[in-house]
Amino acid sequence: MSTKPSYLGLLNAVSNGETHAARYFNAWLKLTTDPEVRAVVRVVANREAEHALAFEKRLIELGYALIERPDPAADEKLAYLSDPARTDLDRLLHLGYGEPREDPFGGFFDDHTIDPQTGALLGRYVAEERDTIRRLRALTETLKARAAGAQKAA
Ligand SMILES: [Fe+2]
Repeated sequence: MSTKPSYLGLLNAVSNGETHAARYFNAWLKLTTDPEVRAVVRVVANREAEHALAFEKRLIELGYALIERPDPAADEKLAYLSDPARTDLDRLLHLGYGEPREDPFGGFFDDHTIDPQTGALLGRYVAEERDTIRRLRALTETLKARAAGAQKAA
């Protein structure tokens, strides 16, 4: 390809975002002993790490390199999720899974120059992220119901 693809910034941003997310989900995974929580967080942490690598891989295949971008907001999430004093429900609420969220992926295919291989990667990524959101939302509702039940029993 002789001209620089217009979507390198998108690939770079996704790879960076997923690297940060893998870090805080893995920190959470190390702390939680609840099997129901572990089952979800293990899937999510693995996906985030794989997405980070897959997007970096695509950048390299296109002839470019990842530019690492620090993210203070992600550092703050890492600190919160690494705090052993927090409950699993606290962590989910902190990440914004307390209520339905806007879908952030609507504009991903607005760029009509995306090559098929990158498009396939983006499609898989979006479908997996939406599944991750569904799983984390469901887990939040489960833990909320559990907490309400425990309060009633007390
Ligand atoms: Fe993600």
